[in-house]
Amino acid sequence: EPEVIRDKAAMRAWSRRQRAEGKTVVLVPTMGFLHEGHLSLVSAAAAVPGPVAVVVSIYVNPSQFAPTEDLATYPSDLAGDLRKLASTGAVHAVFNPPDLYHRGAAVSARRAAEAPSCLDAGGDGHETWIRVERLEKGLCGASRPVFFRGVATVVAKLFNVVEPDVAMFGKKDYQQWRLICRMVRDLDFAVEIVGSEIVREADGLAMSSRNVRLSPEEREKALSISRSLVNARTAALNNSNSASEHIKDQIVQTLTEAGGRVDYVETVEQESLVPVETIDRPVVICVAAWFGKVRLIDNIEIHIQ
Ligand code: PAJ
Repeated sequence: EPEVIRDKAAMRAWSRRQRAEGKTVVLVPTMGFLHEGHLSLVSAAAAVPGPVAVVVSIYVNPSQFAPTEDLATYPSDLAGDLRKLASTGAVHAVFNPPDLYHRGAAVSARRAAEAPSCLDAGGDGHETWIRVERLEKGLCGASRPVFFRGVATVVAKLFNVVEPDVAMFGKKDYQQWRLICRMVRDLDFAVEIVGSEIVREADGLAMSSRNVRLSPEEREKALSISRSLVNARTAALNNSNSASEHIKDQIVQTLTEAGGRVDYVETVEQESLVPVETIDRPVVICVAAWFGKVRLIDNIEIHIQ
């Protein structure tokens, strides 16, 4: 049974104790409602060489949700999460703070409605933000302007509280992973970031906590995302210098025919996330699309030499 820690000071003390015992502290940050994708990060954490102390954080971060987004309906099941983590046998502690932020006085309803994020809407006790200026703007950042500000800031807070040696991120959230790598590099955080492969359902749908909110019909239609990405990769590997625009048209057509509403389809360089015109170097094709009320993201790396 992993120890559940709710207090920041207790969390930091636990980590320091583990390190004093010669262990490598590995952090897996999550927002809970865990699935096989999250558990693959736990396995990867346990596989870090040498003696490890694995800590999974479960915290739904209000600052990465806009007031119009799904913070209030974000799924949660702490008891189920703890059971799943215990059954891995690989988790030593779960960090589940009631809150990570200092909250000020509640703001007026009018100011709350105009607040950039759910955190700003709830109070004025926090005002320090990390912005990864270029990487936060493209892809998901275009339709979610405060999302990566919230992600970078909460991950920095988690790093300061947990003081991990290694932290695991899924490539499912490709832009998030690259942005955290960049933040760590630019701000000299003493943590190694590991990116872990996407875990999919047997039919190809990328696992996500939000998948439970799809109706059976929407879930079926959403398979067009992974299907179109695999087809795009096959096309790109079969034809040298494929035009990104052409690949994009194919994917948009497949998603639209399936009844999805496309947010973006973009082919970008793997590390810089700079858009490319032709696929003549290692790229990743990133997709975000709505099926019903659920916004899904997915991507596929194409390793062209
Ligand atoms: P969450 O969506 O809970 O995801 C936690 C971690 O699990 C992320 O690193 C994510 O990329 C990874 N993950 C999710 N689905 C996956 C899948 N199908 N395959 C592989 N990895 C997967 O991402 C967040 O939470 C938050 O933004 C967080 C980093 C915790 C900051 O609040």
